[in-house]
Amino acid sequence: MAIQKVMVIGAGQMGSGIAQVCAQAGYEVILNDMKDEFFERGLNTITKNLARDVEKGRKTEEEKSAVLARITKSLTIEDAKDVDIIIEAAVENMDIKQSIFKQLDEIAPKHAILATNTSSLPITEIAAVTKRPEQVIGMHFMNPVPVMKLVEIIRGLATADEVYETVAEMTKQLGKTGVEVNDFPGFISNRILLPMINEAIYALYEGVASKEAIDDVMKMGMNHPMGPLTLADFIGLDTCLSIMEILHEGLGDSKYRPCPLLRKYVAAGWLGKKSGRGFYIYE
Ligand code: CAA
Repeated sequence: MAIQKVMVIGAGQMGSGIAQVCAQAGYEVILNDMKDEFFERGLNTITKNLARDVEKGRKTEEEKSAVLARITKSLTIEDAKDVDIIIEAAVENMDIKQSIFKQLDEIAPKHAILATNTSSLPITEIAAVTKRPEQVIGMHFMNPVPVMKLVEIIRGLATADEVYETVAEMTKQLGKTGVEVNDFPGFISNRILLPMINEAIYALYEGVASKEAIDDVMKMGMNHPMGPLTLADFIGLDTCLSIMEILHEGLGDSKYRPCPLLRKYVAAGWLGKKSGRGFYIYE
């Protein structure tokens, strides 16, 4: 199936990034959010990213305008009636995602693929509320979307081969590398990344080293672009905790227990960069 029209649900950090890369690849994009201000904030981020590309000589002013012209505002899920694929990037909450997928299943054309950008919720469980579980799939982009090359493509239990192939081809068109992953807690990215971050938090909690030292070891010793505690702040400590809980519950192994210090920070509202304070303080 050839994809031409894409709908992205959620104009936040991930959704706006996904909309940007889709529009850059030439797709018609409907960017949906519940409120005008959320859409405008997302569009503003995209516009700033494109302006930087122009400034750096990676795009012309005309190319920037063409990308923006391919993005249409949507404030109603009814706009799903006329698209080939929907990529959902709403909040990481199973009830909300299931409610969105139920509605999409009613509204979207029969051929449309329903994809989710979830970082850790089971694709199979989201697919189960629809009458087309074979057309439901995970497309897990990494943050920041315009920069990161990877898309984890997650097959739910019922995902059809041709749906996987279509999404793998679209991922290539986006200039990204897709990897095929089966639907198990945390998929691959977060099954490996989050226990590393959690272990770094344990090292801090047990007084093995300072936060700066822990980050320096991984940055300079292992060539990671960010140390694990800085990365945790970047991802959001509430998100880190929620993913650790999903791993712990889903895999039933105590090696995935979330560090008490992580729980304490989240309880304090120290959620990382977005709240101004996590392991580090952000002005
Ligand atoms: N949107 C668009 N572009 C961005 C960006 C953003 N949010 N943040 C950075 N960039 C661009 C910058 O504009 C810059 O491009 P140019 O200078 O060429 O114009 C380039 O990326 C490099 O940025 P900086 O020089 O500011 O800083 P940096 O070299 O430290 O790179 C980084 C920033 C790309 C974020 C880098 O630190 C990095 O790769 N960090 C790790 C990111 C990571 O691990 N992401 C995965 C998180 S986990 C996840 O997403 C999955 C999940 O489910 C939790």
